[in-house]
Amino acid sequence: MALLPSVLNRYSVRDYRENAVEPEKLTRVLEAARLAPSARNMQDWRFVVVRDAATRQRLMAAANNQPFVGQAPVVIACCATQSDYVMRCGQPSGPIDVAIAMDHMTLQAVEEGLGTCWIGSFYEDRVKDILGIPEPVRVIELLTLGYPADMPPASKQREPLDRIVAYERWT
Ligand SMILES: Cc1cc2nc3c(=O)[nH]c(=O)nc-3n(C[C@H](O)[C@H](O)[C@H](O)COP(=O)(O)O)c2cc1C
Repeated sequence: MALLPSVLNRYSVRDYRENAVEPEKLTRVLEAARLAPSARNMQDWRFVVVRDAATRQRLMAAANNQPFVGQAPVVIACCATQSDYVMRCGQPSGPIDVAIAMDHMTLQAVEEGLGTCWIGSFYEDRVKDILGIPEPVRVIELLTLGYPADMPPASKQREPLDRIVAYERWT
């Protein structure tokens, strides 16, 4: 069974090298987000790219002092600009759309030899204050980005397909 190498090779990187991310690589990672699908193609997202070391230290503090948030050379605050649109299915599109765009970024990062980690453990009000993000906008997640200093885990800890998939009916 052939899987995309980036799907197989992506893992949560929690230790980063000091090397800066080259602008062209960063742009391709952001381009992968730009091309992501979104409900009604609304593209109601905005990505605040933080490279400034002092700001990253403040973001680390707002993210429960997870050290690698300050260590990663890039932290991206992934925001939903129209957070109140609810689809017919009852789900809000904002966090879903932003999550898809983030997943595109994590996979493109692997292609670039870079690593990422999703950060959901943060205080949104503090992040908004640090980055000057206006009130109606929601910060859905942070994403760290940089060259990995750690090694991928030997295997992925995942449930088997037959546990998470049912065919034709819920069983
Ligand atoms: C929505 C979301 C939020 C997460 N938040 C954090 C976080 O705050 N800190 C952290 O170290 N990892 C965080 N993770 C990473 C998960 O722990 C990780 O993806 C999971 O354990 C699977 O490991 P893998 O990414 O290496 O495959 C988050 C992942 C997701 C998808």
